[in-house]
Amino acid sequence: MARPTTTYVCQSCGAQTRQFFGRCSSCGAWNSLVEQTAPASDTRRRRPVAADASAASPRQPRRSEPIAAVGERPLQRLGSGYGELDRVLGGGLVPGSLVLLGGDPGIGKSTLLLQSAEAMATRCSVLYVSAEESAQQVKLRWRRLAEGASEVEGEMGGEAPAPRAQVRAEAPESAGLQLLAETDLELVLQELEALRPAVAVIDSIQALHDGELSSAPGSVAQVRECAAALARIAKRQDTALLLVGHVTKEGMLAGPKVLEHLVDAVLTFEGDRFASHRLLRAVKNRFGATHELGVFEMRGRGLAEVSNPSELFLGSEEPSAGTATIVACEGTRPLVVELQALVSTTSYASPRRTATGIGTNRLHQILAVLEKHLGLPLSRFDCYLAVAGGLEVEEPAADLGVAAAVVASYRDLTLPPGTVLIGELGLGGQLRPVGQLELRLQEAARLGFTRAVVPKGSGLARLAAGLDLQLLEAGGVAEALVAALGVNPADDRA
Ligand code: TYD
Ligand code: MG
Repeated sequence: MARPTTTYVCQSCGAQTRQFFGRCSSCGAWNSLVEQTAPASDTRRRRPVAADASAASPRQPRRSEPIAAVGERPLQRLGSGYGELDRVLGGGLVPGSLVLLGGDPGIGKSTLLLQSAEAMATRCSVLYVSAEESAQQVKLRWRRLAEGASEVEGEMGGEAPAPRAQVRAEAPESAGLQLLAETDLELVLQELEALRPAVAVIDSIQALHDGELSSAPGSVAQVRECAAALARIAKRQDTALLLVGHVTKEGMLAGPKVLEHLVDAVLTFEGDRFASHRLLRAVKNRFGATHELGVFEMRGRGLAEVSNPSELFLGSEEPSAGTATIVACEGTRPLVVELQALVSTTSYASPRRTATGIGTNRLHQILAVLEKHLGLPLSRFDCYLAVAGGLEVEEPAADLGVAAAVVASYRDLTLPPGTVLIGELGLGGQLRPVGQLELRLQEAARLGFTRAVVPKGSGLARLAAGLDLQLLEAGGVAEALVAALGVNPADDRA
């Protein structure tokens, strides 16, 4: 009989070695190798769900065909019941696709999927598999959400005598949503086979357990095997699968990268635990664009969609020294966001620079440009920068806004109300053009802004005039700040 072989599997990247190392040679993670014993020959019985299709028909030789001749099937999408979720998915759930939803514990993944499962259950069959919480816990949450939904409907529809969700809360058997509290993969697969739902939610993939593997639930081998088995059945039955995945301490999707390759879309649900809004993004999407953003707000009774998020990221009405407003673009979605800077004399040997919502390196770079090209002695000042609402702004189009907030705080100036700043700073102090300027200007005008400082050569003068927006074009940072502030910040008498 063949000897069982021992392999060591990295829990963060899935790499396998025959020898134990303290550090994974593939991804560099420390203490991530876990011993795994596998039978030498592949004696694992084949899962019945995987065996059928090939057994039914004799093997046929497959031939390729010209791509132009490949028959097209229109991509049908299932609305998830939430416009914000549909936007991130690229227009809705695609039958037979696998979507992985990642996020920190407690951010609201289960809530989002339960809400959306409940909404979809009115149109198609939906199975919710809870591997983490008991059926009772899910039921409690479901009831809480149903009450929230009835409140919203009441608000919208005036005096609605018996809101839909309330009726369902009283007569749960009429609801289309099926609930299964189970951690055993085999039983989950059987239920999927028996029910053949259009949509199934698995909460979470890390809590599922394949009895055939000896490793613990949540380990690389388990997660990979469970996801692969689910993927096979989803493709075969045209069931759209929504998988919940956990995020590790480092902020990566827990379990292997393998999982991200296996699924069709990876969504992340993020947000400040202390703020109520939550941001949903696609980091991978085979059926739509990535970088789309969905915005939700966590209320006492579930998640509510925020269809007008700019208002969320705008601070107080009163402009104050050191604030500047930018228009960031998340995918195709422009967001008007307020930035705040605080510049104060340092009492440290090296000044402190702290930024929330913008990379610190980016802040360092902008401060260096201001120091060099405007002659401001910022190296003797501490500088703190914050993006309102806890949003992360990654794109360089925010540079000019950061520069304006810093300079305004340094000079104790208030930017004229109704001003937005858009532009990327080059190291030479020049203002670089940014993409989707038209969209950004439209959003600013929609929210009542009247002045926009933008890079030179935008060619949008006519559009701005139509929007009642005063367009101030500038070639460099100094020129832009003079236009925005109305005074020359490099001038000591300012
Ligand atoms: P949950 O969906 O369980 O998070 P995850 O599945 O990502 O771990 O959300 C849990 C948090 O959301 C919890 O701290 C309570 C809060 N919450 C609300 O504020 N309102 C609600 O209606 C619900 C259901 C949860
Ligand atoms: Mg959960």
